Amino acid sequence: MPIRRLPPYLVNRIAAGEVVERPASAIKELIENAIDAGASRVEIQADGGGLSRILVADDGSGMAAGELPLAVERHATSKLDPGGDGLYDLLRIATLGFRGEALPSIGAVARLALASRARGEAEAHALLVEGGCLGAVSPCAFAEAHGARIEVRDLFYATPARLKFMKSARSEAMAIAEEVKRQAMAQETVAFHLDLDGRRVLRLEREAAGANGRLARLAAILGRDFSGNALALDQERDGVRLTGHAALPTYNRGNSAHQYLFVNGRPVRDRLLQGALRAAYADVLARDRHPVAALYLDLDPVLVDVNVHPAKAEVRFRDPALARGLIVGALRHALAGAGHRASTTVSAQALGGFRPGGS
Ligand SMILES: Nc1ncnc2c1ncn2[C@@H]1O[C@H](COP(=O)(O)OP(=O)(O)O)[C@@H](O)[C@H]1O
Ligand SMILES: [Mg+2]
Repeated sequence: MPIRRLPPYLVNRIAAGEVVERPASAIKELIENAIDAGASRVEIQADGGGLSRILVADDGSGMAAGELPLAVERHATSKLDPGGDGLYDLLRIATLGFRGEALPSIGAVARLALASRARGEAEAHALLVEGGCLGAVSPCAFAEAHGARIEVRDLFYATPARLKFMKSARSEAMAIAEEVKRQAMAQETVAFHLDLDGRRVLRLEREAAGANGRLARLAAILGRDFSGNALALDQERDGVRLTGHAALPTYNRGNSAHQYLFVNGRPVRDRLLQGALRAAYADVLARDRHPVAALYLDLDPVLVDVNVHPAKAEVRFRDPALARGLIVGALRHALAGAGHRASTTVSAQALGGFRPGGS
């Protein structure tokens, strides 16, 4: 066979295989776009596990009519800016997105409808993309002063092979709820509402920025008990800051599903976290038990590479030992200071009823 240049719709479909693995990954990308647009409220709806319909609406900066076709064009992004020297710097990524791949990928495998009003514009505009075919930009109704409404119908209709790999609508819906929770834990100042099949399953109002607001957001997601049983962390070493909350040893789980790590506002899955928590709790927790924790690392973007994975679910630290040492050290310190509190909780629970924090 001769070597051929693949047509753009096919290139996008191939990319979609990595970027949009399942409905929850499409929702993740759309939420990231809303956050990057400065939204203070994100409304998410998903029907049939997100396979029949997804809607993500935000009150962010929105897009002007001329930007809509670019938004769905591959490798077009408003998030990378050549500096004064005309050079792009992939080492300093301050936004959640930067690859310019999500919308074209979704548009290549689904029916994608964008509607948006840019801040300060009178008119709102819409654009449809179906299986990679672009429609025309046309004026549309838009209730909000500014923002975007992104609707995805029939996800993977254009890639039947992928569609076959989807789990039940119920498990896709669970993955969506889990994804929305992760994003919401990273952005306590943004309100999140999630409806699954027309039923509101999550209503998270805006919290104040800072440790108290974040703990309130964590409690709303992880359960009220968490705030009464959590240790606050705040330590900095060599330009890396660790904040967040980790549970007292007595507040543990049978698996590590409730351990969350956020790096510069991005939820990431990293084995570093599990290992660091295990090391820190080794003396106070049985090996088969796992503490609940939500840890936030903030560091200069040049010290962490986010361009590792198409779905940006992994990061690479310039100095992993520093990140791990900081987490283990801060946790040990907090646990040592709370030794008394932990045992109080145990005996109080043993006596029945009373929980610290009044919940
Ligand atoms: N909700 C939104 N509000 C405003 N602009 C958006 C929104 N979603 C997408 N965009 C615009 O479309 C572009 C392409 O989005 P996307 O394909 O997700 O790539 P990336 O986020 O990596 O730039 C973004 O750079 C942004 O300018
Ligand atoms: Mg994006």
